[in-house]
Amino acid sequence: MYFTHFFALVLASVPAALAQTGAPIQYVAAHNTTPIYGTWASGSKNVLTGPGFANPANLSFTYPLTTGVAYSFSSDGYYEVARYRFNGNGSQPNCITGVINWVHGKYQLVDNGSIILNPWADGYQQIQDPCVAVSNFIEQYNDTELYQSWQIFTDPVDGYKLHLFGRCATRRRACHPPRP
Ligand SMILES: *[C@@H]1O[C@H](CO)[C@@H](O)[C@H](O)[C@H]1NC(C)=O
Ligand SMILES: *[C@@H]1O[C@H](CO)[C@@H](O)[C@H](O)[C@H]1NC(C)=O
Ligand SMILES: *[C@@H]1O[C@H](CO)[C@@H](O)[C@H](O)[C@H]1NC(C)=O
Ligand SMILES: *[C@@H]1O[C@H](CO)[C@@H](O)[C@H](O)[C@H]1NC(C)=O
Repeated sequence: MYFTHFFALVLASVPAALAQTGAPIQYVAAHNTTPIYGTWASGSKNVLTGPGFANPANLSFTYPLTTGVAYSFSSDGYYEVARYRFNGNGSQPNCITGVINWVHGKYQLVDNGSIILNPWADGYQQIQDPCVAVSNFIEQYNDTELYQSWQIFTDPVDGYKLHLFGRCATRRRACHPPRP
């Protein structure tokens, strides 16, 4: 998904002020100073959606310079996610796992303020784990993702900034700060 301007993205846990009330979402300036359409990228914005990151035709990735995550939302209901992260391992500090992940599909802005990302079947990810027998493999990624709530602020320095709060495991109903 191509957008030429990249807005700032923050992944956070749910602040008290945004705890779910069940009240329908109000699309006013206090909630979103601009529509969600476009690409939102974390940190140094080296991880971006689009063909420079993932090539689904041969399940390959172009590794970005730094870790991060980007979400794109089109005005006609489609989304795309690009992620690159390292997971530490408390008991085995040298066993750092690299995960690079790409998925797209259709999203839904729910009245209760949540966002649901419904993936298509062609999402995939590559896992690199130096401490297991199969240390580098590619697998399908087709998880439905639910974010409890979202808000777009105007940051004096960064401009428009999307906050995504509380990524919820759809089956266990547990919500955590979204992972990059
Ligand atoms: C995937 O395809 C792209 C574009 O044709 C090519 O540059 C790249 O080397 C391929 N990667 C793999 C792992 O086959
Ligand atoms: C989602 O991925 C799982 C695991 O790879 C697979 O068993 C399942 O068929 C996939 N679902 C769809 C809709 O592709
Ligand atoms: C840490 O690494 C060990 C050895 O590979 C593995 O068995 C364990 O599941 C890992 N723990 C986490 C939290 O990834
Ligand atoms: C919002 O509605 C969706 C769809 O019914 C549901 O899955 C989700 O849990 C709800 N979100 C919250 C925060 O209650």
